[in-house]
Amino acid sequence: MTRLIAEITEHDRRYYEQDAPSISDAEYDALMRRLRALEAEHPALLRADSPTQKVSGQAAEGFAKSRHLAPMLSLDNAFAESDFTEFAARIRRFLSLAETEPLDFIAEPKIDGLSVNLLYEHGRFVKGATRGDGAEGEDITANLLTLADVPRELPAPCPALIEIRGEVFMDRADFEAFRATQEAALAEREARKARGEKLGPAVTIPVNPRNAAAGSLRQLDPGITAQRPLKLFAYAMGEASEVPTTTHHGWLETLKRWGFRVNPLSTPLREGATDLLSETPVAFQARLGRERPSLAYEIDGVVYKLDRLDWQARLGFVGRAPRWAIAWKFPAEQARTRLLRIEIQVGRTGALTPRAVMEPVFVGGVTVTHATLHNEDEIARKDIREGDTIILQRAGDVIPQVVEVVDAGRPDRGPPYAFPTLCPACGSHAVRENDDVVRRCTGGLICPAQTVERLRHFVSRRCLDIEGMGEERIETLHAMGLLGSPAEIFRLHTHATQLEALEGWGRLSTQKLFDAIAARRNPPLERFLFALGIRRIGEQNAKLLARHYHSIGALRVKMEAARIIGSEAREELGSIQGIGPAIATELVEFFAEPHNLEALDALLAEVTPEDAAVIEAGENPFAGKALVFTGTLETLSRQEAEARAEALGAKVTKSVSKKTDFVVVGADAGSKAAKAAELGVTVLSEIQFREMAGLG
Ligand code: IVH
Repeated sequence: MTRLIAEITEHDRRYYEQDAPSISDAEYDALMRRLRALEAEHPALLRADSPTQKVSGQAAEGFAKSRHLAPMLSLDNAFAESDFTEFAARIRRFLSLAETEPLDFIAEPKIDGLSVNLLYEHGRFVKGATRGDGAEGEDITANLLTLADVPRELPAPCPALIEIRGEVFMDRADFEAFRATQEAALAEREARKARGEKLGPAVTIPVNPRNAAAGSLRQLDPGITAQRPLKLFAYAMGEASEVPTTTHHGWLETLKRWGFRVNPLSTPLREGATDLLSETPVAFQARLGRERPSLAYEIDGVVYKLDRLDWQARLGFVGRAPRWAIAWKFPAEQARTRLLRIEIQVGRTGALTPRAVMEPVFVGGVTVTHATLHNEDEIARKDIREGDTIILQRAGDVIPQVVEVVDAGRPDRGPPYAFPTLCPACGSHAVRENDDVVRRCTGGLICPAQTVERLRHFVSRRCLDIEGMGEERIETLHAMGLLGSPAEIFRLHTHATQLEALEGWGRLSTQKLFDAIAARRNPPLERFLFALGIRRIGEQNAKLLARHYHSIGALRVKMEAARIIGSEAREELGSIQGIGPAIATELVEFFAEPHNLEALDALLAEVTPEDAAVIEAGENPFAGKALVFTGTLETLSRQEAEARAEALGAKVTKSVSKKTDFVVVGADAGSKAAKAAELGVTVLSEIQFREMAGLG
């Protein structure tokens, strides 16, 4: 039985994690049957970790979540010299410095990669995570251990606890070689497919170095990551029990001493300098812009950081970005190409969106064939016509845009573009309402494009997050007539035989999908609301509504009552901070539409959204608990945070002991954070504290 368990577990791993099974489904089933039979014969020997006791596909869950001790923030952008000057002036004003006071900055290339957070405890690398949403990322420790640039140990003296941040990237040359390998592997796979042979794992072709680095880091098998040529430039500090330096340049020196790769182009600069010796930010920006094409890796700008850490601490943060740093981006790259035709896509709300299909052109590091045209008015304003030669622009990750037409005066030019007034997907009328710039299909539920797009949204990562329901599968199921509404997703298992028979599905993969669906029958209310795809109800608004109304039942009753303008329910809706009149109208209209209510009822027969937590004094995570704040909070003053905790029934104390329940760590937290880690007291980031305290 032990041997069988080990064997099956290994096959599960190959199947779910590596997408590379080495035995047939029938052989796998035989192993499982044998194990089940033995377990039935010897119930006393049944092990809790037996694969027969597990929902299959659990291993495919991916990475564990990992909370950053200090949030990983982003940077404000500058695009022109005036933005930079304003940034420096703001610093001088904030610190009450004279206008003539020169400011020392460190300029660092802004690496176009993926930021990661490395946690060191007593000099040992213990955990590494992706940035995620800034508060919480994915635990990719095993993958980061494969990078030579991640030291396992830091030489003494080093702080008891420190988070080190940096950018994982792939050199351009390594990327080209890697892409060539992947292309060859894909060609080989296609050939096998043509010969009807077993295919093996899927092969993806990365579009740029950043994408290649991201894909490589997110491998469930660190063995694959190990084969990828990844590097890491370290540049920042997160939580630290003790800050080992007083300047940013000192910090970079420390990182080097500890064995990290630090970008050699990092340069001290002086803004407002009168001596002619040091380079100014303006000169540096221009120089790096010129050197950019010859660098070994891709950069998309320069990050300027104020050198003095005491000043950084005083400046703090606004929103999600520090006041003491700025990312000055290089201008977008442009290229010229021909517009072959204009294509119309229909979105989940019926919006008709025009897209340019162009002759392939290399711009901003990638070859592009499509660009956004925004909307009907934009096409008319720029008078863009099929067959025109156009200037295309691409900045960073942004979708390419058409800047202008360059040969508008040519004699053989075609007629102006006529935007369709019928939906290309279902033939219904497409109309523009009031002052809406968007033309929408009026087909509603009969429009296949809207149905598929709605389903895609419903199962997407930020909504119900159903793994294994890709676009292709949704389209297939929709075309087969098995899937027309979100509720039907939860009835797919009644068509098991039909699905298993589909090419590329099979028994295991179909079961895996059913398991993934079954696991989502109790979605958090906010996700459920976002998934409904109500216009103007994005993730943020869904959260606000969930927090306010707590349950789908209550929300629905209130929305129906809110139909009457001036009613108490309507006033209540309008009083929610962040919900304006346009959003309120959209919501009320959604809940007034009979076919929406029908769809909702059908869905609620299948799923039960989890109510949002109600936070009231007496029954909240802090009631009766001992709390210590340490470090500087960024979004709350210390008084406000303490007052809030006390209002929730917590006792706020000054020192950490075994009796402490929570330690909330702000920026630059010192020994208390270390002590908390030592005693195993739950440590909360400011973001976590806000969430738990109902401050959002
Ligand atoms: S410092 C609080 N330095 O840019 C400051 N970021 O827009 C945190 N990045 O998420 C960032 N090179 O992924 C910093 N030399 C550099 C960087 C850099 C690239 C990325 C990083 C961050 C994003 C912010």
